[in-house]
Amino acid sequence: MKAIIPAAGQGTRFLPASKAVPKEMLPVLDKPMIQYVVEEALAADAREVIIILSDDKPEIAAHFSPSPDLVRSLEHKGSTTLAQSVRHAGALPVSFVRQPQPLGLGNAVYQAEDFVCGATEGFFVLLGDVLVPDNRLLRRMREVSAAQGNASVLAVIRVPDEDVSRFGIVDVELIGGSEQDGTAVWQINALVEKPLPEEAPSNLAIFGRYLLTPRVMEILAHTGPGAGGEIQLTDALEELLASEPLYAIEVGADEGLDCGTVADWLSTNIKLAARDAELSKVVSAACDRIF
Ligand code: G1P
Repeated sequence: MKAIIPAAGQGTRFLPASKAVPKEMLPVLDKPMIQYVVEEALAADAREVIIILSDDKPEIAAHFSPSPDLVRSLEHKGSTTLAQSVRHAGALPVSFVRQPQPLGLGNAVYQAEDFVCGATEGFFVLLGDVLVPDNRLLRRMREVSAAQGNASVLAVIRVPDEDVSRFGIVDVELIGGSEQDGTAVWQINALVEKPLPEEAPSNLAIFGRYLLTPRVMEILAHTGPGAGGEIQLTDALEELLASEPLYAIEVGADEGLDCGTVADWLSTNIKLAARDAELSKVVSAACDRIF
């Protein structure tokens, strides 16, 4: 299965930090956000990872390129662990496709059409502003897809009423598992991108992990602008519903970490630091001094 990671957005929620550095390159602890996402795709056995870039983001391709001089210099100084981390980032098997204009997520995904056209199996789409540090979600999505005849599966997360307009929202029907223990499998009846709170069909928001059938690409070929004047992946999925069923599973509150706004990014850094033996002491000491 191939994986597509759109990273061609303008990162407006992170300005001015994202003025000269792509938001995908902002660090979460010691790695840029996008490296977590690439590693998550590879942990789910993605055979190929395709990053969709805009022309003004050469830093992302540079991060995933080998840096032999830097590695040599670090090794020379005895910084073996750092040398290994630099070598690792430059050896991750990713390729790049350009999105000529920032026309929206649907248009970004469509740029990878050549990579999935003619395929019989589905493909993953991973958005760069959410992280799943334990890397288990994509495998669960693949299992549900297999159980439903290789159908498309989306990950969804519960969001408060006041946040629904930031997301794609799904209308669902429970078909298996339990909502209480997070094992629910829902069939999707409808999807709407960035609804007004009073028009949202539920509080289940598309989380940024998709397993999609290749038919989505045929639909994206003619999907026009939707919410915000952008070509929306959610609109193509709504059209897909007319010919194929779509399913959703829930991402646990501690499983999926949002980095979509500065506040969410900060919260994700603190949560991940708290899970690290050394950094948790730093967080704890800082909190003790402040609160
Ligand atoms: C995109 C999708 C939206 C989804 C969200 C998750 O929106 O269009 O459906 O809920 O990612 O992060 P964006 O954040 O690009 O506006």
